Parts: sequence; structure tokens; C-alpha cells
Amino acid sequence: MTTDERSLVWAELERATRDRDHPFRQPVILSIDDSGFPSGRVLTLRAADPASRSLRFHIDTRSPKYSHWSQRPLISAVFYDQQARWQLRVRGAATLHNQNEIARAAWLASHPMCQRTYLSQSPPGLEIDWDSPVFPPGLERRRPTGQEAEAAYPNFAVLLLTVAEFDSLHLSGEGHRRFLIAENPHSVRRLAP
Ligand SMILES: Cc1cc2nc3c(=O)[nH]c(=O)nc-3n(C[C@H](O)[C@H](O)[C@H](O)COP(=O)(O)O)c2cc1C
Repeated sequence: MTTDERSLVWAELERATRDRDHPFRQPVILSIDDSGFPSGRVLTLRAADPASRSLRFHIDTRSPKYSHWSQRPLISAVFYDQQARWQLRVRGAATLHNQNEIARAAWLASHPMCQRTYLSQSPPGLEIDWDSPVFPPGLERRRPTGQEAEAAYPNFAVLLLTVAEFDSLHLSGEGHRRFLIAENPHSVRRLAP
């Protein structure tokens, strides 16, 4: 059972990238802000690759979190599946990709409505007027053309979380089970829950 835990974790993460309703689809991801505070937010899991030990997310280069990981590439994540009573905590290193091969491939594979997010006129987190529109005029209610979306590409970044370790906790009436999975080199150890 214990040695299978790593395969179980990666299989579930991969499943979450294909199933929009999967509870692992939208984890809480943490950075460290400029004052040293932990800073968490929900991000959508886009890809999970056990071979490179990486989880992929998409973020805006103008957002505070981009600046956090540029300065301190430490990253944690918490996934939770309420029905399975399964908590998965992840620690690792953050790598940012902007206007390179990795970013381009992810951008081209993104839906136009997702690309539209990066056309927002103000950087995420900036205070804006009550009546100021979010998107450029004309794009409030439709998907952008390829040419229109291209203007947003410089604002788009891929965030890769290279996993160092998972802490996997299964709640059970018969006794909770908790495992520490190190990724490099691989090892699975049982922990007291
Ligand atoms: C369900 C859900 C999914 C989200 N997915 C993303 C995402 O994939 N990328 C992203 O940048 N923000 C996403 N957000 C918004 C972030 O949680 C956050 O509010 C925003 O990115 C600003 O973060 P920051 O101020 O920490 O930089 C999502 C929010 C929710 C509620």
C-alpha cells in the first residue's frame, strides 16, 4: 500500500487536469509576499507530469504572486478532496516562464476565453474606478480573435511547481493514514497522522 502511494497521488493529479469537476482541480497555492507573510490563492491545475515532477499553472505577469515567486521561488500547495477525505500538501520550487517556448505552447493550447483574462486593462490587485470596464471595449461579451488575444500574450506566464515532497493524509474511521513522499530520490515513508 505505502509504495503505491506515489503512483496514486500522480494519477489523481493527472485526472484532475482532465476533469473540470475534480476536487484536486483548484488547489490553494502559496507564495511568500514582500513582508514575509504566506500568501494563498486558488489556481487551476493545468498539467501534472510525474516524469518531470512538475505541476503547471497559468498566471498573470502583472500580479503580485508573479513578483513573489520571482523573488523567492518557494511554493506550497494544498489540495483537498472532501468526498475521499483526502488532503494532499505539496512543497517545491517555483519556476516562471514568460515569452519562451514553454509559455508559447501553453498559450496556444489555451481557450480564447482564458486568453481574454490576460487582456484585462489593469494589473490584478490594482484599485480601479467603480465604473471602469475590465476588458478593452467590445470584448466584454465575446471571445477575442487570435489577433486581439495576441496583445495579451506578454502578460501570460506559466508557473511550474517542481515537487520536492508530498504529504498525503487519508482520513478514515479505521485510523487515518499519512505518508511523506519524497520525489528526488523517490521514497515513501509512513507518518503518524
Ligand atoms: C476557482 C478559481 C480558479 C482560479 N484560477 C486561477 C488561475 O488559474 N490563474 C490565476 O492567475 N488566477 C486564478 N484564480 C484567481 C486567483 O485566486 C487570484 O484571486 C488572482 O490570481 C490574484 O492573485 P494574487 O493577488 O495572489 O496575485 C482563480 C480563482 C478561483 C476562485
